[in-house]
Amino acid sequence: MSRLPADPRVDQPAADALVLFGATGDLARRKLFPALYQLTRHGELDVPVIGVARSDWTDDRFCAQARSSIEDAVTDPDPAVVDRVMARLHLIGGDYADRATWEGLRDALDSHDSSQAVFYMAIPPGMFPQVATSLASVGLNERGRIVVEKPFGRDVGSAVELNETLHSVFPEERIFRIDHYLGKESVEALLVFRFSNTLLEPVWNRRYVRSIQVTMSETIGVEGRGAFYDEIGALRDVLQNHLLQVVSLLAMEPPVGPSAQFLHDEQAKVFAAMRPIEPDEVVRGQYVGYRDEPGVADGSDTETFVAARLEIDSWRWAGVPWYVRVGKGLAASAIEAVVEFQPPPRLLFDESATPPDRNLVRFRLGSRDGVTFALQAKTPGPDLDSQPVDVAVDFETALGERQGAYERLLADALAGSPRRFARTDVVEHTWRVVQPALDAPSAVHPYFRGSWGPAEADRILVAGDHWFVPTV
Ligand code: BG6
Repeated sequence: MSRLPADPRVDQPAADALVLFGATGDLARRKLFPALYQLTRHGELDVPVIGVARSDWTDDRFCAQARSSIEDAVTDPDPAVVDRVMARLHLIGGDYADRATWEGLRDALDSHDSSQAVFYMAIPPGMFPQVATSLASVGLNERGRIVVEKPFGRDVGSAVELNETLHSVFPEERIFRIDHYLGKESVEALLVFRFSNTLLEPVWNRRYVRSIQVTMSETIGVEGRGAFYDEIGALRDVLQNHLLQVVSLLAMEPPVGPSAQFLHDEQAKVFAAMRPIEPDEVVRGQYVGYRDEPGVADGSDTETFVAARLEIDSWRWAGVPWYVRVGKGLAASAIEAVVEFQPPPRLLFDESATPPDRNLVRFRLGSRDGVTFALQAKTPGPDLDSQPVDVAVDFETALGERQGAYERLLADALAGSPRRFARTDVVEHTWRVVQPALDAPSAVHPYFRGSWGPAEADRILVAGDHWFVPTV
């Protein structure tokens, strides 16, 4: 008998159909069809894919769009694999408010003998409740699980409300909330790196760690998403979800076992111990030119950059500042977590020598992911002086090609594996953490594109700390 309690979220049956809501939309074009191509290439897709969209597109037009999105995203796609994807696709058009659309979907699933579908909502969040309850109106909530894209709510209240609506028709174990950072190999690698190397554990705490910072920077601006982004801003778009998930993996205690339940329990504990962010611990910025982007309101004060200081009141982390920042229109595209260690208590030999740089562990989580240890080594010559040296590994070179986030998440949703999805309490906790900053937004400071954001971001740093420029 297993020594661990049963996890109600494992052992879900594999899906026998994939239903894509928003199949003619932007997310499907950019991420989902390329992911379906990769799954097919690896022999991991053997179910029909039924697109549902409000447009009156024909199957041919739908396939043409799917084909071109694969060709745009994949270098030299294999035409035979593309044809295999096309052979699985079918589109149902119709008004979501019309019961006939849902009956049509049920008939289509019946025609494939489907009893366990994945219903993937690649649609604007305002439509999640309507789609979930409409599925239930024709009994399809008994025949599958739903995958919900972010943003999951826009504050604590709306996230709780959305959870209540979804729970009224689907049990928690059949609700898969996407945060695509949890699907990134590079992000999951944090967990494995921490808990496979005993070397790190003794120093991974307030005694040796001086600060931890996580940066997600993009050179691009809002790129045609102005109307959507202007309603959301950087705090809701990335900090509340992607960055806090990364923080939880860096901060958590080792999970009791590998299943979803134990991992999510540890994440929830991190957020339960995290103090809500006060408005004076947040700096917001907006790149110059943002207000001229199509779809952005005149005089908008939506932030395209946000930096915040977090505190985790646990035995492991009390007193250690966690800095997070995210922005568009910055100097480089990178995702990086930097763990900075305390300096040696005293200089070894020569009190007049320059103090050595502090040790760092840098996790590169974006393209060219890997890890760098910034250490000190003896400077050649007669003196007992040190200088910085990097010990670095590039994971793709060392380990080979890895799968993309959406490919892994789609495969998990089809297989019924919830580990890389966000649990309800974890999502509600993250909103609770950012809520005070949402309630009383601080002033927005302009910054130039190509910079590292407004200089005011230094204000939240503890004396002696600085922002690290990510290595790209
Ligand atoms: C999305 C945000 O969730 O993540 C975008 O809505 C952002 O604004 C994107 O650009 C970044 O994802 P990635 O995988 O490129 O780091």
